[in-house]
Amino acid sequence: MEIYVQKERGVFALSTPKMSYLMKVDEEGRLVHLYWGAPVKDITPAGIASRRDFPYSDHGGELYRPEYRAQDPRDFDPPALSIRYPDGVRNTVLRYRSYSISDGALTIVLSDDIMKISVELLYQGWGDLDLITRSVTIRNEGEAPVVLETVRSATLHLPGHLHYRLTHFAGKWGAEYQRQRIMLTQSQVVLESHRGVSASHQSVPFFALDPMGRTTETAGEVYFGALHWSGDFELIAYQNPDGLVGVTGGIGTYDTFVELEPQETFTAPGLTFGYTGHGFGEMSRILYDWQYDFLLPRSKAYSPRPVIYNSWYPFEFDLHEETLLKVIEQAADIGAELFVVDDGWMKGRDCDRRGLGDWYLDEERFPHGFRPLIEACHAHGMKFGLWVEPEMVNPDSNLYRAHPDWVLHDEGRKPWLSRNQLVLNLAREDVCQFAIDMLDRLLAEYELDYLKWDMNRYFGETGWPGASSKEIGELRIRFIQNLYRIWDHLNKVAPHILFENCAGGGGRADFGMVPYCDRINRSDNADPVDLMLIHEGFTTLFPPKTAGGAGNISPSPNGINGRTLPLQYRIDWGMTGSMSIGIDLLTADSEELIRLKEAVRRFCELRPLMNNSYVYRIASAYEGPCTVLEYVDREGKGAVVFAFGHGLHFRQYLPLFRLRGLEPHGRYEDEDGNIFEGETLMNWGVSISMAGDYASHVLVFRKVG
Ligand code: GLA
Repeated sequence: MEIYVQKERGVFALSTPKMSYLMKVDEEGRLVHLYWGAPVKDITPAGIASRRDFPYSDHGGELYRPEYRAQDPRDFDPPALSIRYPDGVRNTVLRYRSYSISDGALTIVLSDDIMKISVELLYQGWGDLDLITRSVTIRNEGEAPVVLETVRSATLHLPGHLHYRLTHFAGKWGAEYQRQRIMLTQSQVVLESHRGVSASHQSVPFFALDPMGRTTETAGEVYFGALHWSGDFELIAYQNPDGLVGVTGGIGTYDTFVELEPQETFTAPGLTFGYTGHGFGEMSRILYDWQYDFLLPRSKAYSPRPVIYNSWYPFEFDLHEETLLKVIEQAADIGAELFVVDDGWMKGRDCDRRGLGDWYLDEERFPHGFRPLIEACHAHGMKFGLWVEPEMVNPDSNLYRAHPDWVLHDEGRKPWLSRNQLVLNLAREDVCQFAIDMLDRLLAEYELDYLKWDMNRYFGETGWPGASSKEIGELRIRFIQNLYRIWDHLNKVAPHILFENCAGGGGRADFGMVPYCDRINRSDNADPVDLMLIHEGFTTLFPPKTAGGAGNISPSPNGINGRTLPLQYRIDWGMTGSMSIGIDLLTADSEELIRLKEAVRRFCELRPLMNNSYVYRIASAYEGPCTVLEYVDREGKGAVVFAFGHGLHFRQYLPLFRLRGLEPHGRYEDEDGNIFEGETLMNWGVSISMAGDYASHVLVFRKVG
């Protein structure tokens, strides 16, 4: 990101290769937004004054576009900052104070010198990507405490007077990241979660806006943004009476306030925004580059994800040394590279009603500890991993009996149990330390290669008996800050471990968690027909190799929706993410075992082409009865095309599918030895038959010249 400051006229210009972002200090000393979008290099007075939405008329305030919107008496759009002062004053009027540049980032300080509040706006780029992260730090410069009732990360303004369509991803457990689209009207649309600990089952903290709703996969503008936060959030997209469109967002305001003592500061989480003029496909590629090149845990960012065998779908809580030793043999035989013991290994944990919180092995079912399992895995060249759920406890556990005060609860009221468990109050320092110590012990004791962190319920009562008003107001924030602290610790002490972020399936698929985890449990629902929508939503935001889960090759009938599906269809879907097998290998017949072994071999053969790839959405299940996803290697080594049909009608004609992202004059070889020019595949297309109930195809095009 380049920063250009025109001091005498108070203009700040941020530019990335294909995006400009302009602000200016106006005659009243307010920092106003000028422009966000495709490059605008001319920031001379003429260049700026000719813009239609600046200068603004101030009669009703609707044309005022503050760069960070406080509760200002002349402003009617949703504020990013509202403060309760001790003397009852409610308004904050921010004026420009200073700026500084350091480490390639711009900081602009605003202040209300009457109310003694300062606001530091930070703008940070990401190499050559068309992305900028904003965050904000509020400082109480007064002599009495103040209460931040709303403290959002940013106010963003879209180029004026156009109609915008909002795209977001919402759903519910087992049906996550469903693409949703609406035209904005004169209203506020609030994307939010106030479930406390996770959001993305219901709503991913992400938005995309395209002018007039005309942008396609390959053409048109998209203005998009994502919040770096895994707890309660609010993203408000609005169109005001004068047709100006904006987004303001950050941590949620529900049940939350921040008390700032004199000289104390609060920093809101980052909100990253980006722009492209080349459609939703390019938006996804920018998000992928960001994750591959900056966000994913660096030690494994470019490494392939191992093929996992996970005990959950086939065995659930019915885990025993003898059984698992047999499964390890079979898993190794079909080629699994990592064996995961999921929920059910702890003392007394033979169902979901007890044992959660007691992170010690059940000696009755594992009389020799984990040693025989670990040794068996290692003897077969397989790695070993474990499941944990550190934020949770069953009332029937030694941990709860020893520390009933550690859970979120209201004194005297029977707590709401969900999945028979309660939420530990991670905002407490002692609970946070307990989790760190427990995880350190497990890492050391079992030489883990993989750790799956689960979180299987939302907040209920958020009581913290005996806590100060400050602690209660900040509980939901401190919970997530401590969560990140633990994850940061894990990544520091065990950078070699493969971490899976799981929250009852896809409950924490967000950009706050991406820096800590190598895999995200995409969904507890691994049914391929449902995945047509789930996986497309997921891979719009996250690279496919991070699409984790307990069994991406899933059992049939499916445990969630009861659907029965052919093995090949499930296998081909299993290849679209980070491969994991969740099939009972002890009851599988020899034909099934042979086909699973072949599936693993095939996946490993294709993995180098898919490992650091982009996903082009060639045909979308949101628009028709098939999904065609083309994985194109970022370095141009070739492409793997996955095609899935379901329920086509007779006479329902399909087009030739035109591939994308290849070199027009590059030569690509398919698996039958045919050679095609890139432009033939991209312009003329490929024919894929979708006949039958469940058609699936995997086509490979390797670049040979
Ligand atoms: C959640 C996870 C599953 C499994 C179970 C164990 O549902 O998403 O993969 O680990 O919990 O209880």
